[in-house]
Amino acid sequence: MLALVTGAAGFIGSHLVDRLLADGHEVIGVDDLSSGANVRPGVEMWEMDVADPALVEKAAARRPEVVCHLAAQVSVRASVSDPLADARTNVVGTANVLEAVRAAGGRKVVFTSSCAVYGVPDALPVPADAELRPASPYAASKVSGEVYAGMYRRLHGIDFTTLTLANVYGPRQTPEGEAGVVSIFTDALLSGRPTKVYGDGTQTRDYVYVLDVVDAFARAAGDAGGGRRFNVGTGLQTSDRDLHTLVAEAAGAPDDPEFAPPRLGDLPAMSVDPRATREALGWEPRTRLPGGIAETVAWARGRNAPRG
Ligand SMILES: NC(=O)c1ccc[n+]([C@@H]2O[C@H](COP(=O)([O-])OP(=O)(O)OC[C@H]3O[C@@H](n4cnc5c(N)ncnc54)[C@H](O)[C@@H]3O)[C@@H](O)[C@H]2O)c1
Repeated sequence: MLALVTGAAGFIGSHLVDRLLADGHEVIGVDDLSSGANVRPGVEMWEMDVADPALVEKAAARRPEVVCHLAAQVSVRASVSDPLADARTNVVGTANVLEAVRAAGGRKVVFTSSCAVYGVPDALPVPADAELRPASPYAASKVSGEVYAGMYRRLHGIDFTTLTLANVYGPRQTPEGEAGVVSIFTDALLSGRPTKVYGDGTQTRDYVYVLDVVDAFARAAGDAGGGRRFNVGTGLQTSDRDLHTLVAEAAGAPDDPEFAPPRLGDLPAMSVDPRATREALGWEPRTRLPGGIAETVAWARGRNAPRG
């Protein structure tokens, strides 16, 4: 199959490209390289904005069967300070990607959403059919993308599956982002810089390993799960304080974070229920957190090692 991956130079997108190639598929990557720097060797790359109408013509000419749409403005904070820029990439960009799939005669879109769409949930882990309560422009843009994908299914018969990702971690994640706590701790602890935990350390998140996440994409690219939303997380909560301990152990560094005041708008707890994902896609989060953190730390050590 010919697959088009948007956000192909990003953290998750680049691993997805590797996985699809390993599965024997042909891959085209789309990325404007605004934050991603992981262009995979030997892949046809279209360096462009996902909101650029030229994408529609290019897709019509190459006719990908499946589009995995990961390109996005990914920062919640940036979306609050500049909601229009967020909407331009995440809403207009998604509409343009869907139009490209239509022009290409594509079979399916795998749309990338975030557990931020659930806002402050009633109970944890959040099931995939929970009420959507977006509380940031970023989360609203992800809800909107899913609504657009549903509309294209009804109007044009193009199938879609939405994958609602928990906190993804693993090799190639940059420590510059706001959500990549594992890579932020890893980077600081390996270079002997102080680490900061916001609040009292009891805030929890659901950490899912990037290779497990791309396995969910590979499965969703098939026929299963059409027209549905699936959670891609473990259902488990890990506190910031416990996460720090795990990364410090893997890095061989002191487990001694500074504590800073909690940040406005941070959720106290989050985890998503993956049971429906297992039933429909046969997907399971196979990587346990200590093993995934060890892989991430080993990768970061290799990246930081002096070359010569
Ligand atoms: N990392 C997580 O924990 C997480 C959690 C939930 C959802 N997601 C979603 O997963 C997807 C991938 O995120 P990631 O963590 O790999 O982030 P990332 O920043 O590494 O990847 C995003 C990629 O999109 C590209 N991009 C940004 N704007 C673009 C535009 N207008 N046109 C073309 N390319 C553009 C960037 O250059 C980058 O390569 C995003 O849709 C994000 O919202 C990520």
